[in-house]
Amino acid sequence: MKKDNMPQVARYWNTIAQDFDTIYTGEKSSFARFLDQWLRKDIFGRFDWVMEHAGDVRGMRICDIGCGSGRFVAEFARRNAAHVTGVDVAPEMLKLAEKLIEENGAADRCRFVEADILNWKTEETFDVTIAIGFWDYIMAPPERLRRIRTITGKKFLSAWPRFWTWRMPVRKVRLEYIQGCPVYFFRKSQVERMITEAGFRVERCDTVGKLFCVEASVV
Ligand SMILES: C[S@@+](CC[C@H](N)C(=O)[O-])C[C@H]1O[C@@H](n2cnc3c(N)ncnc32)[C@H](O)[C@@H]1O
Repeated sequence: MKKDNMPQVARYWNTIAQDFDTIYTGEKSSFARFLDQWLRKDIFGRFDWVMEHAGDVRGMRICDIGCGSGRFVAEFARRNAAHVTGVDVAPEMLKLAEKLIEENGAADRCRFVEADILNWKTEETFDVTIAIGFWDYIMAPPERLRRIRTITGKKFLSAWPRFWTWRMPVRKVRLEYIQGCPVYFFRKSQVERMITEAGFRVERCDTVGKLFCVEASVV
């Protein structure tokens, strides 16, 4: 594994996989649900943004990088994508994703790969790739962006945590200093430059809460 902190990232997400997924299911106390609607509303905002900007995915091949518990994979399958691949470093996340897809009866059109995208050996390309809630944990995005470019056929959707929002110091202390999972933040110009230098054209960069959501196409 590369020197850049993937073991800590995988350990953290394995530990909190179930808790993370309850943000989507709402299977928690009503007070905790209320807090999620307020403190984690970007998770819902970025989900809606991705589904809007992915467009009509019928018949498409999609790759979700850092797929977590599989909520985007499941929705793409529900929208009749031809095939969806989820890639993640955390096996506990992938177990949840596999269970969800089984329950949804979409297992024949989805598969999951346990890997860091950088080290994933594949010759495949996908019509659409997405990396959502992912860059927060990536120390050096350019090499992974270049890897994503090689597997992207048409469109790449990504979400980046913004530098200098009030959540930034809170997450830095909670995640990095208390829970041992490094977390990073980005400026808009930096995000656009990195995506462009990886060989994409930035089509739009929207501010969604405390995130930048970027639609890029293959040049
Ligand atoms: C915040 S979760 C987001 C999950 C999902 N994209 C969502 O928004 O519901 C971040 C996920 O990215 C995964 N991850 C982080 N770095 C990764 C890497 N280099 N390669 C693959 N997965 C990674 C983590 O294991 C975790 O499951």
